[in-house]
Amino acid sequence: MKILSIETSCDETAISLIEASGDLESPTFSVIGNSLISQINIHNEYGGVFPMLAKREHAKNLVPILKDVLIQSKMFTEGEIKIEKDLWNEIEIILSKEEGLYKMMMDVFKNIESPKIDLIAVTNGPGLAPALWVGISFAKALQKIWNIPLISVNHMEGHICSVLLNRTDEFKILNLEFKNNSINFPALALLISGGHTELVEIKNWGDYKIIGETKDDAVGEAFDKVARMLGLPYPGGPEISKLAEYARESKLPATAKFPRPMIHSHDLNFSFSGLKTSVLYYLRDNFSVLDEKVQITKDNCADIAREFEDSVIDVLKAKTIEALEETNAKTLIIAGGVIANKKIREAFLDLEKTLNGLKLRIPNSSMATDNAIMIGMAGYMRLCLNPKIVEKTDRITAEGNLKLCH
Ligand code: KG4
Ligand code: ZN
Repeated sequence: MKILSIETSCDETAISLIEASGDLESPTFSVIGNSLISQINIHNEYGGVFPMLAKREHAKNLVPILKDVLIQSKMFTEGEIKIEKDLWNEIEIILSKEEGLYKMMMDVFKNIESPKIDLIAVTNGPGLAPALWVGISFAKALQKIWNIPLISVNHMEGHICSVLLNRTDEFKILNLEFKNNSINFPALALLISGGHTELVEIKNWGDYKIIGETKDDAVGEAFDKVARMLGLPYPGGPEISKLAEYARESKLPATAKFPRPMIHSHDLNFSFSGLKTSVLYYLRDNFSVLDEKVQITKDNCADIAREFEDSVIDVLKAKTIEALEETNAKTLIIAGGVIANKKIREAFLDLEKTLNGLKLRIPNSSMATDNAIMIGMAGYMRLCLNPKIVEKTDRITAEGNLKLCH
């Protein structure tokens, strides 16, 4: 079946079209169309994501990327989807106000036949509510106009499903088939993103229990905040990662020392706010500030980045090992934007080698950060679990704090 998926929970506007087949035990996916516009450069100026700005940008991007995906997938040619410039502008305004959307979208798509799509999947949370609403309103409009069933998907379940698509290289070439990477249950998922740090026990598809989580900042958030203190742009993860790698390659002396928060707490929870504060105190005690900018050399920044990354890795590994023991998991899934980090990937690949019989499943770097492909795959898994799910379309609302549970 063909699934059109829409993701607008944070600062990426993404739409994809996937072909899905098989059952829960061995699903197979191929990507037919995929388009994503990142708002990173827009939010960069502010050092974080602004919900109303994110909403406006999603509204602007959704129709063009849908068109892009439909053309990529050869469902339509450029000439078939003719949209006058004025109409695009109007759609943008209407989407951001969420009024009269159906009528407006009708005007755009009334002259083209409904595409042969079997299901629409849209992220309904967790995330920024205004941003989520734009994607949901858009999905509902398409559902009405094209009469295609619609289901909602939990963004974190999307991240879990990101490991179902695995190739060693990027997925730039479309129409390639991605074979399932079988998951053996019970499984454990370590979800590490900009908004979440969770350990999830998965007894089976759809049966999730959060057995550990952060008490304050998420890992990705800590990367972003520390990067900001060091004067690096948003998102901070890739920047810290580059600097830490430079410190290791240049064998810079290890001067900075930070704690490994909650590593001996005998539970599965995390805390990264203290680690961030340690970096702040270290900067305050060792470097001067001029015009709100820390006066620090690249080498000192790199030393801090390396020690910060090492601290994060030590804690993530220790807690994951404890959770693996507690759950007897056979598969370890690690997902979310932070697993794009090279050193963290290597640390867990090393761990897999030391733990007999454990299967590690991590997504490609490009599948680790937010995308719509993972939402389409999670939608398919939900449908396999419960074919009646599509009957509940009208009740879909944005839930900023949506939890993973069964
Ligand atoms: O999953 P994601 O794309 O969005 C959320 O659902 O939050 O994760 C974004 C987070 C950001 O905090 C970003 O700094 C972090 O993932 N990130 C990284 C790396 N690439 C992205 N953190 C560490 N190292 C990276 N290479
Ligand atoms: Zn995410």
